[in-house]
Amino acid sequence: MTNSVFQGRSLLAEKDFTKSELEYLIDFSLHLKDLKKKGIPHHYLEGKNIALLFEKNSTRTRSAFTTAAIDLGAHPEFLGKNDIQLGKKESVEDTAKVLGSMFDGIEFRGFSQKVVEDLAKYSGVPVWNGLTDEWHPTQMIADFMTVKENFGKLKGVTLTYVGDGRNNMANSLLVTGSMLGVNIHIVAPDSLQPTQEVRDLAEGYAKETGSKNMITSDVDAGVKGSDVLYTDVWVSMGEEDKFEERVKLLKPYQINMDMVKKTGNENMIIMHCLPAFHDIETEYGKKIDEQFGIQEMEITDEAFRSKYARQFEEAENRMHSIKAIMAATLGNLFIPQA
Ligand code: CP
Ligand code: NVA
Repeated sequence: MTNSVFQGRSLLAEKDFTKSELEYLIDFSLHLKDLKKKGIPHHYLEGKNIALLFEKNSTRTRSAFTTAAIDLGAHPEFLGKNDIQLGKKESVEDTAKVLGSMFDGIEFRGFSQKVVEDLAKYSGVPVWNGLTDEWHPTQMIADFMTVKENFGKLKGVTLTYVGDGRNNMANSLLVTGSMLGVNIHIVAPDSLQPTQEVRDLAEGYAKETGSKNMITSDVDAGVKGSDVLYTDVWVSMGEEDKFEERVKLLKPYQINMDMVKKTGNENMIIMHCLPAFHDIETEYGKKIDEQFGIQEMEITDEAFRSKYARQFEEAENRMHSIKAIMAATLGNLFIPQA
């Protein structure tokens, strides 16, 4: 008998897990956060080696995997895109076989979903998707953990994502929210709305859980009654040539205090996966100001610093949730059914 329904599994996309398994990971994350705050050790991965592969940059995901691995008693090893042969001199299949023979688990952040899937297929160890062009599943556990911390529940909460409605964050929020019974509104211009494939996947789950989703370009209709306003950068990693087009298209979809008022909900919160362009304290921020005369993109500095904002709690939760994901899939924990 296997001791855990999670042991040895990969998290490549949200659909790899069931609703109750996602709920378990969220609750386990909250438990591990409590242990951490109380200083109670939780070395479930003592003696394990974890590879951290990054083709794209990262602050939160890299830091969260690193500190989570150390807190769990494991050894994390960062393998950046210029450090290893992957892609340039060695195939994904061969790399996966080598890494799988030395490491007990592999995190991958990069462009292609196929690469993360092949790493899992050929390595024989759990692989965790730290973001691809299509999905950001580890972020989802932290995000819905943050929603649960703030509202005490998930079912019936309305989370409205405004901005680039066809990027990895929008895809993941639409599908995961639908799995968990959270109502998801995607508010985006017509040309930046989710693909039919992602909508169909979400709709299938929503039918089971009762999520009431809305995909619209109408800001007023989309944000009304929201409990959470969520946004992400207008230009994702790998699309840096799209700033001009996106600035023009997405200006009406910026989270600002006027949009907060439009929710009509004084108990609402603001979330953002980060990094955020809320001022011109960054290279990109300065360039966009020079080119287009705007100092804030997807969220105003006022909204970002307002009493509604929860993005830094959400960022901290990345560590607790990644810890839960790694421990559940690699720690031989007794989890009879999720
Ligand atoms: N939210 C998130 O994934 O942040 P990083 O890109 O810094 O990892
Ligand atoms: N959509 C963003 C998310 C960053 C966490 C990107 O892919 O760059």
